[in-house]
Amino acid sequence: MSKLTESIQSADWKAEKHVPVIECAAAVKAGEGFDVRITVGREIAHPNTVEHHIRWIDLYFQADGAKFPYQVGHFEFSAHGESAEGPNQGPVHALSQVTATVKVTKPGVLTALALCNIHGLWQSEKPVGISG
Ligand SMILES: [Fe+2]
Repeated sequence: MSKLTESIQSADWKAEKHVPVIECAAAVKAGEGFDVRITVGREIAHPNTVEHHIRWIDLYFQADGAKFPYQVGHFEFSAHGESAEGPNQGPVHALSQVTATVKVTKPGVLTALALCNIHGLWQSEKPVGISG
């Protein structure tokens, strides 16, 4: 029996449209808020249709040396062109990107996990250091 974690994919985001890209400062001040932008389809756009879309992105933080990660946020994308007039006729689409404002007190690693409704789970990581 395989574990779900074995199905989580990762790749070079410049060549693979499903990979969540994490953008934030490489080092931040302890206890001070900073923005973390996460984008799926940054280089190659991912489809955003009723049939095929990014459903959500999760953000986690695990401090260096800590046993467990903590969930920072869950960002759900609910509009993909649904309409009473038919699929993909709707007037609104949620784009698969989000900016979270976060503060940390220790260095660690941010992990983004994104779900495509067809192509499964995709992960990427970015270390965050403490400056000053
Ligand atoms: Fe997909």
